[in-house]
Amino acid sequence: MAADKALSWAYTEEFLTEPDALRTARARAEEFGIDAVSVGVGAALRMLTAASNARAVAEVGTGTGVSALWLLEGMAPDGVLTTIDVEVEHQRAAKEAFADAGIRSTRTRTISGRALDVLPRLADSAYDLVFLDAEPSETSDYAEQAVRMLRRGGMLVVAEALWHDRVADPARRDELTVAMRELGRSVREDENLVPSLLPVGGGLLVAITR
Ligand SMILES: C[S@@+](CC[C@H](N)C(=O)[O-])C[C@H]1O[C@@H](n2cnc3c(N)ncnc32)[C@H](O)[C@@H]1O
Repeated sequence: MAADKALSWAYTEEFLTEPDALRTARARAEEFGIDAVSVGVGAALRMLTAASNARAVAEVGTGTGVSALWLLEGMAPDGVLTTIDVEVEHQRAAKEAFADAGIRSTRTRTISGRALDVLPRLADSAYDLVFLDAEPSETSDYAEQAVRMLRRGGMLVVAEALWHDRVADPARRDELTVAMRELGRSVREDENLVPSLLPVGGGLLVAITR
């Protein structure tokens, strides 16, 4: 790869400054050792929710609220983010970060539990965007639920789609790399989805439902 390409990617990540309101959430993520989305990915999430004037968004993997705050920034002012995490401590930190950022409590619905138990209980065709960023080995199963939950024209968005830069290398055949590569293939081949793989942060797989 040309050295200029690496420079351009670094420039992309640093193109925007993270809003101050996210400082608490990112600091807590570091304390917990959570891999929160990068600024570049956060900005892409904000752009996608703003482009679709999203009112109903679901997130799998709240962490301490970094991605949630970026999503909320782009959503319609009365939009509601439903966010799921199995770790109560992470969600507690996220709620503190939402309060610090001045987010009204009516704009977030936090659900504690394993995503594969919670997602089947969420409504069909009710969401404008579903963002997946939790347990990588389960992401394909989350995606199946997400497609059911999305309205027509809704967006499926998957974090870490390049899985630590391993997906692009066919010689890498460990379980998580193969799982992420397979998810990309199934999204690409699904005639009901309009896909794009954005090389931002750890890779953001985006697909619009037809
Ligand atoms: C990478 S972090 C999410 C970071 C967050 N999206 C952000 O950018 O701020 C992954 C989160 O998924 C949660 N998680 C892991 N396995 C899960 C599961 N089976 N169901 C729900 N949440 C899970 C973890 O507790 C962790 O908070």
